[in-house]
Amino acid sequence: MTQIHSQAPVPSEKKVMLSAVQPSNRLTLGNYLGALKNWVQLQSQFDCLFFAVDLHAVTVRQDPKELKEQTYRAIATYIAAGIDPNSVTLFAQSHVPQHAELAWILNCFVYMGELGRMTQFKDKSAKQDQNISVGLFTYPALMAADILLYKTHLVPVGEDQKQHLEITRDIAHRMNQIYGSDLFTIPEVYIPPVGARIMSLQNPLSKMSKSDPDPNSAVYLTDSDDQIRKKLKRAVTDSGSDIVYSEEKPGIRNLIDIQSAITGRSTQQITDAYAGKQYGHLKVETAELVAATVGPIRNRTEELLRDTSYLDSLLKKGAEKAKTRASNTLKDVYERIGFIPRG
Ligand code: TRP
Repeated sequence: MTQIHSQAPVPSEKKVMLSAVQPSNRLTLGNYLGALKNWVQLQSQFDCLFFAVDLHAVTVRQDPKELKEQTYRAIATYIAAGIDPNSVTLFAQSHVPQHAELAWILNCFVYMGELGRMTQFKDKSAKQDQNISVGLFTYPALMAADILLYKTHLVPVGEDQKQHLEITRDIAHRMNQIYGSDLFTIPEVYIPPVGARIMSLQNPLSKMSKSDPDPNSAVYLTDSDDQIRKKLKRAVTDSGSDIVYSEEKPGIRNLIDIQSAITGRSTQQITDAYAGKQYGHLKVETAELVAATVGPIRNRTEELLRDTSYLDSLLKKGAEKAKTRASNTLKDVYERIGFIPRG
């Protein structure tokens, strides 16, 4: 019998890259310069999936109205930052039920002891010593499902999420050993060639974080130009007055890193240009650069948020694309486990 092979779909040659954001807090300049900006540059090089993890968000109590607004905002911010919704797969996690379905299966292949060792669980449950939900505990199984559903090769995540990626790899290995080594692709942490690690403006030894209780510690992508200027003016600097890039001057170094991430200039070029100048100059000029970067993203985000029906149509398209891929993986898992096919 002759078979026409030319009709077979050509698998994408591009590696699959996937990342997600929790729609529970506003994104910061650190999220933009450390992650989003890179993704925009990488989106044509990889087969990218980006989504808002609303199922993860409800592991702690959320206000329904706020959750919805933050989920739209996360998606709108991705687009405003330059993610092309037509070339990547952009969606909301809860729109693709396979995430919750695979998470259940993975819950049965991860152990209490492993989940109990997760730093994020220990931190979050220490902050909230009552009513710690089971969901908060099994959060990493859902994250593993997010990743394994799409045969992901690369996951660009920060330091705080590496442990979750490690457990994802352990679960994948474990199931591959039982059900066949071609069941899951083993994902790797992706470290971009140029990655900026932006620190808190109030404590430059810790990372700029969207959940920091001090609003002056972070520039949010929702901040007005005036707020940005004020926050940079108040940024903690170091003793002395020379603008040098060194371990001993983490505050100054952070401002230089911010400038470098925005302009692409090297830290050396930047410090050279500040020879003989004072901290005040560096602060003011960094503030202007940040305002010029955040301003257009903020304005475009607000514009997009005014038209939720457009966002809905993008999310619908994204979910359809994601579902096709996710359901193939889930079907394979179900079959190998021994479930009767749905027919
Ligand atoms: N846990 C991640 C965070 O808090 C968000 C996340 C959920 C994620 N699923 C993911 C990140 C899959 C990368 C891949 O930042």
